[in-house]
Amino acid sequence: MKKIRLGVIFGGKSSEYSVSLHSVSSLLRNCDPNKYEIYCIGITKQGNWYYLPEADYDKIEHDHWKDETCIEACLSLNGKTGLVLFDDQHTHLYLDVIFPVLHGKNGEDGTLQGYLELAQIPYVGCNVLSSSCVMDKEFTHILCEKAQIPCAPYLCVYKYDYQDEKALYEKAVEQLGSTLFIKPCNAGSSYGISKVRNFEEFKKGMEEAFHHDSKVLIEKNIEGFEIGCAVMGNDEIIVGECDEIETHKDFFDFDAKYALDATTIHCPARITKQQSECAKEMARKAYRVMNCSGFTRVDMFVCKDGGILLNELNTIPGLTATSRFPSMMKEIGISFSELIDRLIELALNK
Ligand SMILES: Nc1ncnc2c1ncn2[C@@H]1O[C@H](COP(=O)(O)OP(=O)(O)O)[C@@H](O)[C@H]1O
Ligand SMILES: [Mg+2]
Repeated sequence: MKKIRLGVIFGGKSSEYSVSLHSVSSLLRNCDPNKYEIYCIGITKQGNWYYLPEADYDKIEHDHWKDETCIEACLSLNGKTGLVLFDDQHTHLYLDVIFPVLHGKNGEDGTLQGYLELAQIPYVGCNVLSSSCVMDKEFTHILCEKAQIPCAPYLCVYKYDYQDEKALYEKAVEQLGSTLFIKPCNAGSSYGISKVRNFEEFKKGMEEAFHHDSKVLIEKNIEGFEIGCAVMGNDEIIVGECDEIETHKDFFDFDAKYALDATTIHCPARITKQQSECAKEMARKAYRVMNCSGFTRVDMFVCKDGGILLNELNTIPGLTATSRFPSMMKEIGISFSELIDRLIELALNK
């Protein structure tokens, strides 16, 4: 059988650069070398693209990948599908498909997907529109609420409109309660997010969030716990198991996500059968409403009264062998390497 020429893009000009290195090294180690001829493409934190002819997965994981063997490269926009290297010959490397393993800005938000569309290369995951709408927490709320998927009550504030801090704080407390979540609309991995309980914290939280984005969500604090559900497919959808985050921290912040010392992930989630069915149905519906394809992790809250609310979607969720998405699929019998095969197949059959 002819091997599939698979381009794998990692890194990126994003606050989640290091998260990508972990995802991609695990993914590369689990790609079957009998099926794929792998072409690694690294993007530095500054946004520069390199082809790695001698990719070393350990070096990628520990962020030592950028060495003298790397060759500057970009995707061809001249009808030649694949990579063009900035060497003397302008070498062209044909690719059948690309797996973007990048999280957050400039990777998961539709920008890269637009470039891949222009380069006419099939790629794993959601298209431009769904990637960008899912990345934006306000648009996710608007679209999902329109489809009657319940989300946390919220206010959305643009930077140009943020003048009277006190008045906004009072309005937020009146509408949403005294404990609030402040989040940049476009970020990820909990960057720029704060849980605030008074005006001083509110001001600091808003400043921090505006540091990441010019649009900020203020949300009601949802008491309860968080669950997630893995969804995969194009026309036909497979819904994985639900998982649950048990954290002893104030919330699931960056450290809790990646150090996991005060946090335990339970898969399957410790919820009733009825709640699990409701969550899976919500995840399926949100996947459709946001026009997702390929795969997406849907995150929800289980409220104190047992009801379920949508939190957010992640179009390129963490992808190490022990990450949440692969674990939820493993629960329904799909191993990590089978998951990779299926995602690539979905990209080729879109
Ligand atoms: N409205 C909310 N109520 C309670 N906790 C929240 C709320 N919004 C966010 N959180 C907490 O903050 C974390 C990060 O928020 P999230 O919206 O998932 O952003 P990110 O895209 O950074 O993952 C969540 O995992 C959760 O622990
Ligand atoms: Mg999240």
